[in-house]
Amino acid sequence: MKFRQLGHSGLEVSLVGLGTNNFGRRCDEAQTALVLDQAVESGINFIDTANIYSAGDSETLIGKWLHGKRDQVLIATKFGMKMGAGPMHMGASRQHIMASIEASLTRLQTDHVDLYQLHRVDRRIAIEETLRALDDLVQQGKVRYIGASNFEAWHLCEAEYTSRNQRLNRFVSVQNYYNLLKRDVERDVTPFCEAYGVGIIPFFPLESGFLTGKYRRGETPADGTRLAGTTSGTGPLTDTNFHILDRLQSFAAARGRSLLDVAIAGLAAQPAVASIIAGATKPEQVIANAASADWEVSLEDRVALNEIVPSPYPG
Ligand SMILES: NC(=O)c1ccc[n+]([C@@H]2O[C@H](COP(=O)([O-])OP(=O)(O)OC[C@H]3O[C@@H](n4cnc5c(N)ncnc54)[C@H](OP(=O)(O)O)[C@@H]3O)[C@@H](O)[C@H]2O)c1
Repeated sequence: MKFRQLGHSGLEVSLVGLGTNNFGRRCDEAQTALVLDQAVESGINFIDTANIYSAGDSETLIGKWLHGKRDQVLIATKFGMKMGAGPMHMGASRQHIMASIEASLTRLQTDHVDLYQLHRVDRRIAIEETLRALDDLVQQGKVRYIGASNFEAWHLCEAEYTSRNQRLNRFVSVQNYYNLLKRDVERDVTPFCEAYGVGIIPFFPLESGFLTGKYRRGETPADGTRLAGTTSGTGPLTDTNFHILDRLQSFAAARGRSLLDVAIAGLAAQPAVASIIAGATKPEQVIANAASADWEVSLEDRVALNEIVPSPYPG
C-alpha cells in the first residue's frame, strides 16, 4: 500500500481508504468486522465515516470493532447533516459541533478522531464560528485535523483566509464527489487544493460500483448490489455512461488492466488526490480495491484518459 500526506497535514493516509456508508445498512456487525479486518490486512489505514451514516450505526459498528486496534487506523468522521428534528441537530454552529463530536466519540468508543469534516456548507453560520469551534476541538485533543466536504473552491478559499487571519487551524482536506465519470472538481477545486496544500478525498470513486464494470447495459442489476432496483437510464445506468465505460474497458484491456484498476489508479494519478475511499461490502472487494492502486498511470496514459473523459482542469 502506498501512503500520501493528507494536504499540508502530517497525516500519512493510505492511497486507498475505506468508505463505510454501507455499514449498519447492508453490512451487519459481523460483515462490517470482516470488511474492516481485511482493510487493515490490505494495508488500509484510513477509514471514512459520518454521524449520519445509518443514523449513527456506521460509527457504532466501527466503534465496536475498534477495541485494541485504535493505533492501527485513522478515523475520519463528519458532522453537519440533519441528525434530528429542529435547528439544534444539524449544521455548522458551535452548539451543534460541540454536541456532535461528543456523540461521535461515544459511538466510536474513542477519545479522538483523526479528521473531523464538515459534511457540507452551512451558509446560515459564519465560517469563523465553525472554524473557531473546530479549532477548540483540536486544542482539546478531541480532533487531530479538520476537513471540509462538498465545498466549492470559493468556500475553501473563504475558509482558508479566515483561518489565516484568525490564526485558527486550517482545513487540510476536502471530500467531494469525484470519479472518472465526474471530474467537475478539476476545474476550480483541484487548482485551489494544489496551490494551498489541501488533500482531495474523492467520494463515490467507483460511481457506486458502476466503474467496476459489474453492471451491464440492458441488464437488471443483481439483487443485493448497491444499484439493485435502479432501472436502465436512471442513476449511473445511462447510455452516456455505458458509452464511456466501453471506452474505459478498451483502455484497460489494451494495458492488461481491469476497469477497477483504471477507476482507482486513474483517480490516484490526478493532482492533490490523497486517499480514495472506496466503499466495500465484502472483503474480496477490499482486496481488489487496495491492489488497484499498485498501478502507476503514466503521463501518456493520463492524456489518453483525458481523451475518453475530458478534464476541465485548466492545466
Ligand atoms: N462526503 C459526502 O457527501 C459523501 C457522499 C457519499 C459517500 N461518501 C463517502 O465516500 C465513500 C465511498 O462512496 P460509496 O461507498 O458511496 O461509493 P463507491 O465507493 O463509488 O462504491 C461503493 C460500492 O461499489 C461496490 N464495490 C466496491 N468495490 C468493489 C469491487 N472491487 N468489485 C465490485 N464492486 C465493488 C460495492 O457495491 P455493492 O454494495 O454492490 O457490493 C460498494 O458498495 C462512502 O462509503 C462514504 O464514506 C461521502
